Amino acid sequence: LEHEALLKVEQAETVDELKNIRVEYLGKKGPITEVLRGMGKLPKEERPVIGQLANEVRERIADAIEEKQSRLEDEALEEQLKNEDIDVTLPGRPVQVGGPHLLTSIIEEIEDLFIGMGFEIKEGPEVETDYYNFEALNLPKGHPARDMQDTFYITEELLMRTHTSPVQARTMNAKNGKEPVKMICPGKVYRRDNDDATHSHQFTQIEGLLVDENVRMSDLKGVLQEFAAKMFGRERRIRLRPSFFPFTEPSVEMDISCKVCGGEGCSVCKGTGWIEILGAGMVHPNVLEMAGYDSEKYSGFAFGMGPERIAMLKHGIDDIRHFYTNDVRFLKQYHNA
Ligand code: PHE
Repeated sequence: LEHEALLKVEQAETVDELKNIRVEYLGKKGPITEVLRGMGKLPKEERPVIGQLANEVRERIADAIEEKQSRLEDEALEEQLKNEDIDVTLPGRPVQVGGPHLLTSIIEEIEDLFIGMGFEIKEGPEVETDYYNFEALNLPKGHPARDMQDTFYITEELLMRTHTSPVQARTMNAKNGKEPVKMICPGKVYRRDNDDATHSHQFTQIEGLLVDENVRMSDLKGVLQEFAAKMFGRERRIRLRPSFFPFTEPSVEMDISCKVCGGEGCSVCKGTGWIEILGAGMVHPNVLEMAGYDSEKYSGFAFGMGPERIAMLKHGIDDIRHFYTNDVRFLKQYHNA
């Protein structure tokens, strides 16, 4: 019996087979258990002899099974290591490193520039009330200038903001009409436009607002001049043209001189020598009053610009949709810009 069991152990090729052998010989229904169970029927003198013999046989079989099992396990491990070996001389796969989106970089650059002039950064909600988006900016219901800024309505009173100008009114309101304000506000805005090379239903703006005693148009011009010089280079000139916004009076549009302009054929400024880059003006007295400021005592200027447009001029990008379609080949070009 022992011989037979040991032979089977020797021939076993898997751990499962060993398990079966253990059950067969050493299990509750196995021959050794049977012998031990039948001891009672044996003559008294034979019991210790048979008992010892049975125990020894059981131990030897158990040892053999154990030894074989560890050998099988070692072999399996060996095999696995052989199959899984790693060729450390293979070249590594390059890791794709991301970087800031061009629009993010431009916005941060503009933020830094204005922080340097003492402005603080504010933010406001993209879902805005009709009051802040229009009414508080001197655009009452039915005002014809609302047509220019058609947007996505959520309810009659709630809409996706069409510009960052509502943050002007929010910031002034929060100061209770007393303290001066000096802030810029970057953020997303929405218009009901059909997307093409120069229009997008969602784009970004940066608003600027300065309110204090004795703020004059020359202060506005000085700040904008500094901005243009830092952003586009000292050699660029600016000019202010009269314009209209309901929330500023007087209102202007700012142009900067065209760098690439060679006259007639210039693609950037169409030969005019100037490129429009932002809208601005002196805060309308009605806007100051609605926000709780005494317009006899306080005055201010505001401006609004589009970072996409600025990035397009700076880098010669010809289609605004490049900013949103996220083609990494486009984005990568500006990772160190
Ligand atoms: N909110 C205006 C626009 O979106 C821009 C602007 C801002 C003009 C501040 C004047 C002052 O067109």
